Amino acid sequence: MAAIGEKMARALNEQVRAELYSSYLYLAMSAHFSATNLPGFANWMRVQAQEELMHGMKIYDFVIARGGRAELLAIEKPPFEWASPLQVVEEVYSHEKKVTGLIHALVDLAAGEKDHATTNMLQWFVDEQVEEEANAREIVEKVRMAASGDEGIGALYILDRDLGMRPAKLGPVASGD
Ligand SMILES: [Fe+2]
Ligand SMILES: [Fe+2]
Repeated sequence: MAAIGEKMARALNEQVRAELYSSYLYLAMSAHFSATNLPGFANWMRVQAQEELMHGMKIYDFVIARGGRAELLAIEKPPFEWASPLQVVEEVYSHEKKVTGLIHALVDLAAGEKDHATTNMLQWFVDEQVEEEANAREIVEKVRMAASGDEGIGALYILDRDLGMRPAKLGPVASGD
């Protein structure tokens, strides 16, 4: 199998950056929740941040395995404050939709380049994005319900307790799933 093409490797390096930015964004959200007394939400976002780092590593390892050069690009500073828990989770959902678009563009590029190995690797991400969007949509609905119900703040704290139970995935960062 020929080494990965330069154009494809560049696009995958960009995706590594996008996944690491996702990790950075979600860690910033976790810090925000820690600062606003919602430790369960903070836990949920922290686990999410770890998963995004694994996504980045999966692509990074792939580029190297294909004989490409993994080039680390600059990661932007994420936002620092959000107005409400609902605003945070809505941003998670819209961010995941944006990432899905990036993955689909990579699939199109790989198909155009007739790069079957990359096409195959990206299928994992296509499936993963379906799950990521479903999870984000679910949490938006739950926070919306908590915010609109009569119990108000009480419902939010019950949800916080539930989100605190999401376990971290242990093991090497490179394992990816
Ligand atoms: Fe991701
Ligand atoms: Fe994600």
